[in-house]
Amino acid sequence: MPSPAAARPPVKPAEPFLPFTRPSIDDATIAGVAEVLRSGWITSGPQVKEFEARLSEFFGGRPVRVFNSGTCTMEIALRIAGVGPGDEVITTPLTWVASSNVILETGASPVFVDIDPATRTIDLGRVEAAVTPRTRAILPVDLAGLPVDRDRLNRIAGSRGLRVVEDAAQSFGSSWKARRIGSFGDFVSISFHANKNITTCEGGCLVMNDEREASLAEQYRLQGVVRSGRDGMEVELVGGKFNMTDVAARIGLGQLPHLAEFLDKRRDLARAYFEEFDRPEARSLGLGLPPANFTDSNWHMFQVILPEERMAVRRSEVMEEMQSAGIGTGVHYPAIHLFKLYRAMGWKEGDFPHAEYAGRNILTLPLFPAMARSDVPRVVRALASILRKHRKA
Ligand SMILES: Cc1ncc(COP(=O)(O)O)c(C=O)c1O
Repeated sequence: MPSPAAARPPVKPAEPFLPFTRPSIDDATIAGVAEVLRSGWITSGPQVKEFEARLSEFFGGRPVRVFNSGTCTMEIALRIAGVGPGDEVITTPLTWVASSNVILETGASPVFVDIDPATRTIDLGRVEAAVTPRTRAILPVDLAGLPVDRDRLNRIAGSRGLRVVEDAAQSFGSSWKARRIGSFGDFVSISFHANKNITTCEGGCLVMNDEREASLAEQYRLQGVVRSGRDGMEVELVGGKFNMTDVAARIGLGQLPHLAEFLDKRRDLARAYFEEFDRPEARSLGLGLPPANFTDSNWHMFQVILPEERMAVRRSEVMEEMQSAGIGTGVHYPAIHLFKLYRAMGWKEGDFPHAEYAGRNILTLPLFPAMARSDVPRVVRALASILRKHRKA
């Protein structure tokens, strides 16, 4: 007789939890960080200078400065553009709240324009109608890495004399008609937050037009200070404390050479999602898929829109059940104008119906370079089975 232990079927280990994102940092970068930590110079120094030089090359030689977030980069761009109290800046309500908070920080007012439900980015067809004599700038957002139409954007801005602050926090490595985002345009703001396509843990960079703007950016970055000679110091404007550390810059330097490989991996995973969602059993779910853009997007995220009208549960329950199935999901983002802070300024439900629908139903699925292609069917199967279970009668 076999022993009871031998009679038991082998225990199949549960599949490991699949987060919706995870950074990939190689051992050489970790060793490089250790070197910086031992070097005696850990805040802004030679690594920052080197990272700025590499980024400037990446953006076709344009002036670039790095900072401790991709939020302050936008605020600083607005300040350099002279945006302040009494001014208006046009943006999208479907973005990380940083995009409109920075407008408030300058004393200006955000003016929201609804999204195009297909691209989920600002509907450029509605932008001109939102321009007033007080409008100073447009702040478009490349949600999920899908670039806003730069030709149309820059045409509108040019014809109305507006500055553009591209919130390209999510579109590092994306392009527009074969031109890299950041290598052209006005101000371009990038984030290196932990979940971005390359990371410095926290951080960001701003691409500018000339050395005058870069010099102003340096002043806004560190208390307005301008140094000269060995002991000269002058302050002419109110700056903040937004500098990047050498430790963070060293991580960025280690990430940059991997960008092409990360992009290939992300594109391949996105293709796998489209293949899975194209199967008849998934097609019948009524999910909204992102545009299948394999030329311009860096596939920072793969986001579906849940079919609210067909569901007997809300998104939070779907996320809860995905979590129980070992799969992480995210919400990027609820519509900004419905946050308390913004409602108190007068916005309300119904103002931007497309952004509100997306804000209630958008769901970010796992996609990151270290994820296996074979994880994709598992995600789609789990989502499909949850949606079928909760289909409205
Ligand atoms: C669209 C968008 N804008 C702005 C930011 C702000 O970047 P950071 O988190 O680096 O301040 C982010 C990052 O989370 C973002 O996704």
